[in-house]
Amino acid sequence: MINLPAPQFTNASIEDCIQKRRSIRKYEDKGLTLQEISNILWAAQGITEKNRGFRSVPSAGATYPLEVFVAKKDGFFRYLPERHSLKMEKNKDLRKDIAQAALEQMFIANAGLVIIIAAIPERTTLHYGKRGMQYIHNEVGHCAQNIHLEAVALGLGSVPIGAFDEDKLRQTLDLKEEEPMYIVPVGHPK
Ligand SMILES: Cc1cc2nc3c(=O)[nH]c(=O)nc-3n(C[C@H](O)[C@H](O)[C@H](O)COP(=O)(O)O)c2cc1C
Repeated sequence: MINLPAPQFTNASIEDCIQKRRSIRKYEDKGLTLQEISNILWAAQGITEKNRGFRSVPSAGATYPLEVFVAKKDGFFRYLPERHSLKMEKNKDLRKDIAQAALEQMFIANAGLVIIIAAIPERTTLHYGKRGMQYIHNEVGHCAQNIHLEAVALGLGSVPIGAFDEDKLRQTLDLKEEEPMYIVPVGHPK
């Protein structure tokens, strides 16, 4: 288990981050610090109200269907919002395999951090039936946008990746109940 440091707020304004955000696909060969990873995962799904367990991203009926994973040089991890920690799932650099599953968009493998936003649909569809699936897609967008804007605040670059082979990615990551919904590489812009 890797305990992440508490997120450290930057002085970037939200308007500045919106103005500057661009899809970035070229990265320096450089990892992210634990502080940067902390800030990004906090923005993606961190707990912002302890009492009720509410998070940085809205969720239909507060059902929280999203699971966030990260692939980096030293392994593949699941983000645990309650502990603000990373739990190792695989002791292996999966970035290249993820890039291959993303229809050979190989630039993904050069990002210091490759985020996978996945969902456990039943958490939401049990309450909302078929409509729950639409809510999950909405939430994935909220989550990815927070990541993109926080990346800008930290001087990093990211891009949303929707083009991937879902079965191949699920196999690569050995996901059982989680459905991969979006890939977001984050890195130092070249
Ligand atoms: C749902 C969705 C899927 C996308 N999938 C990919 C992708 O697979 N690969 C990629 O390089 N960019 C992808 N993009 C990024 C778009 O190409 C990009 O947002 C668009 O060109 C506008 O540029 P900007 O993000 O810099 O404003 C995707 C964007 C969205 C919203």
